[in-house]
Amino acid sequence: MRFRAPLFALAAIFAFAAHVTAQSVAQTPPMGWNSWNYFAEKVDDKGIRAAADQMVATGMKDAGYIYVNIDDTWEGPRDANGKITTNAKFPDMKALADYVHSKGLKIGIYSGPGTKTCAGYPASLDHEQQDADSYADWGFDYLKYDLCSFIPDVMQKQAPNDQAAQMKLMVAAYDKMSKALKSASARTGRPIVLSLCQYGWDAVWEWAPALGGNLWRTTGDIQPRWQSIYDIVSEQAGLESYAGPGHWNDPDMLEVGNGKLSLAENRSHFSWWAILAAPLLAGNDLPNMKPEVKAILTNKDVIAINQDPMGKQGKRAYSDGEVEVWTRELQGGALAIGVFNVGSDRVSTHPFHLNFAMLRLTGPQSGKDLWTGKEIKLSNGMPIELASHDVLLVRIDKPVMPQVIRIPAKHEGASQPQ
Ligand code: GAL
Repeated sequence: MRFRAPLFALAAIFAFAAHVTAQSVAQTPPMGWNSWNYFAEKVDDKGIRAAADQMVATGMKDAGYIYVNIDDTWEGPRDANGKITTNAKFPDMKALADYVHSKGLKIGIYSGPGTKTCAGYPASLDHEQQDADSYADWGFDYLKYDLCSFIPDVMQKQAPNDQAAQMKLMVAAYDKMSKALKSASARTGRPIVLSLCQYGWDAVWEWAPALGGNLWRTTGDIQPRWQSIYDIVSEQAGLESYAGPGHWNDPDMLEVGNGKLSLAENRSHFSWWAILAAPLLAGNDLPNMKPEVKAILTNKDVIAINQDPMGKQGKRAYSDGEVEVWTRELQGGALAIGVFNVGSDRVSTHPFHLNFAMLRLTGPQSGKDLWTGKEIKLSNGMPIELASHDVLLVRIDKPVMPQVIRIPAKHEGASQPQ
């Protein structure tokens, strides 16, 4: 009898910890850096430490980037007890996690529900709890879980020619890892963000939040090319109602600073990710980041749009020819407006004219141009000249909307002044 109360109390603490775990992560879209887009299989312990150092030295950490995420190719074979080991590139995961934590940052890891990851390294099939426990023991804060070989290993094998059954198997696999992570983090008290990577199959946005997914990829892999970014953006329309605090649509990691993207394209890419409330996971070479790329990634006003506490994803308001206007409603009635020239050759002799009716605005509006940092006045029909693939991103703190005419109810009528 004497031990009942303490045991009960312990159970309550664990239940509370599990609740906190489920509730408190990713209240705004996760921000950080991931190794894949630039380093791919060249990632190693040294590179992760260098990335963490640079997150601090460049001001990325101060701007809000917190997660340093190891993507695929860290995995070694399983030991005699089935426990996952690391390969020679990562001699000591716990020491690495401690190092990243010592910088005030968090650390993420990667696996998948199949036998192999996309790059052909061991994944978590039939070892879900064991792997979740390893990640928790090493000190990880984030898991990206990538479908890959689960498709041939399980879905096609167990349910050949039955797509609906295959999708059920996939959902169950994510649910299994989510539960494993919850049980592991209830033990350690360290929450683990769950990032689903299955390329948007089976309308993932409909079921991922219920099983504890904090973010889910909505598309295939991003490439550092305008067309890839624009195609992905075009696929996001209509998904806005599924995102919110704790659970986000993920149009993939950032390519800002990668490939041959121009500065205008980098600005547009980052502006879209801000409006889309997308996770901001930089994917560039941090130790060799150019100042102009750093200026984009650390633009605090644009990040504030992305991290707006209301967590309401923005949408495409309208398009006119090759110009698209996107908006995002922000806390306190503020509004972000992004005007994007998505054409390859529209020139300034044919300026685009802003249409306030399409934005439910009356003019004029005072705001801040977030890429120049200057005050700007917007008015109905005003011409906006944008170079190809460039953007005008404006924050309006107090938008002027048409006045709603309120018709008084009958019983109010009597007391109205004549
Ligand atoms: C892909 C995934 C990429 C990266 C890669 C690693 O499936 O979409 O973001 O994680 O696997 O092999």
